[in-house]
Amino acid sequence: MKLTTEQREHFEREGYLFFPSLFSRDETKVLTDAVPELYSRRDICNVREKDSDSVRTNFAAHLYSAPFAKLARHPRMVDPVRDLFEEDVYMHQFKINGKMAFEGDVWQWHQDYGTWLNDDLMPTERAMNVAIFLDDVNEYNGPLMFIPGSHKRGVVDARHDVSTTSYPLWTIDNDLVRQLVQRAGGKNGGIAAPKGPAGSMILFHSCLVHASSSNLSPWDRVSVYLSLCTVSNHIRRFKRPEYIAHRDFTPIETLPDDCLLKDYPVDLPWENGMPTTATQTSVDELKVAA
Ligand code: SIN
Ligand code: MN
Repeated sequence: MKLTTEQREHFEREGYLFFPSLFSRDETKVLTDAVPELYSRRDICNVREKDSDSVRTNFAAHLYSAPFAKLARHPRMVDPVRDLFEEDVYMHQFKINGKMAFEGDVWQWHQDYGTWLNDDLMPTERAMNVAIFLDDVNEYNGPLMFIPGSHKRGVVDARHDVSTTSYPLWTIDNDLVRQLVQRAGGKNGGIAAPKGPAGSMILFHSCLVHASSSNLSPWDRVSVYLSLCTVSNHIRRFKRPEYIAHRDFTPIETLPDDCLLKDYPVDLPWENGMPTTATQTSVDELKVAA
């Protein structure tokens, strides 16, 4: 899938691209059907909400679930990113975010590259998020919100928030968010929230400021995020465990376009459990050495 000139210009200007209904209902169903079993697992790959048992985010399913292993190699998800960067990419992070009906909590305003730089020492912004909706996303179930054009500010000030939700995040303070929204057009376009049917895809710049509010609706809002990083830009520090920030920098080889609906062999290295090294961090190693 090659991006058009118009799409490239939109991405440069706004920092994101939206592809409504890029995947069919049948393709999405293959993924959706696999989620309940993954979310039911009591292991560290599932981070639950602070105030409920609902899964907030599941990490690294592409290493132990065949449908998600195929999605991680899907040309519709990977090719536009390779196309924009003109370089091969590897999987830096893979997550299935729940945002479940009535219980899905907020994601505070943040830039992903802020975390990737501060925690993982990723050298530059040459990494990107690609998200696919597994449920219909509407104005009620906590759609992702962007501040268009905010990626052009590069890395902005952030503080490490370890208390608001169950997942630590480098977040941006309200005054700066107010300023950025004002500059992006205030009430006229200062915030964009792409909404659409299950199977829609969003691609967004790693410096684009984004957030989502809680889900008080009766509709789940499960979405999958592939964080793809150019191979030359791989992380330089293993401060976070491997199931959150991957350490295999091998370029992704894509599968054929029909891979979700047909049988293609995929490697599932963590199918029988995660290796102990995947939970270790450079901080542990330093402690051992000390
Ligand atoms: C994220 O920013 O990583 C997740 C946001 C969301 O799923 O709403
Ligand atoms: Mn994010």
